[in-house]
Amino acid sequence: MTDEQSNKPGIGATLNRRTVCKMGLATGLAVPVTALGQPPNRARPQAGDTLVFEDGPHTGETVRPELLTLDQKPVAALARDPETNVLRDGSRLNRVMITRIDPARLTEEFRINAAEGVIAYSAVCTHTGCDVINWDDERQRMACPCHESQFDIYDGAKVVGGPAPRPLAMLPLYVEEGIVKVAGAFSGRVGFTQQF
Ligand code: FES
Repeated sequence: MTDEQSNKPGIGATLNRRTVCKMGLATGLAVPVTALGQPPNRARPQAGDTLVFEDGPHTGETVRPELLTLDQKPVAALARDPETNVLRDGSRLNRVMITRIDPARLTEEFRINAAEGVIAYSAVCTHTGCDVINWDDERQRMACPCHESQFDIYDGAKVVGGPAPRPLAMLPLYVEEGIVKVAGAFSGRVGFTQQF
């Protein structure tokens, strides 16, 4: 399994400083610790990151609540470090699907993750990892094109149909000066577990 299939940290993240030093001593090489760290474009969305539309009419623009129509079909977005301008496009596990809803319709437990009604869920299906890009407009559910799993966006992307074993991870958001920002790490595991 690669780290594209689950949110297990990649090799750079699993090597601690002591291990890296030992490697350097054992091989006689001067291994810069930072060189083995995860590239910033592969790192998961970080608190304070902005979001950028990855598709739709506002592709490339910074996400603001007013750029999303209430109850619209979710669109793909990626996080961007506002200080370095690095777009976190180095892993498909970083892609989220965003839309805007009436926050009163969101289960109370998940309301804290919404920002002026904007919500974001991982795009990666928890079944076998397809991007959950379809939308059931009638029932207002995210739908996976591969094996038809469906997810209730008003209840933390709970599975409401199909073989997916668990909800999509939710990315907590807040709004600052009119811009949607990431409030913290995904709640829940991103990606899927290999089915045998
Ligand atoms: S990968 Fe989504 S339902 Fe199978």
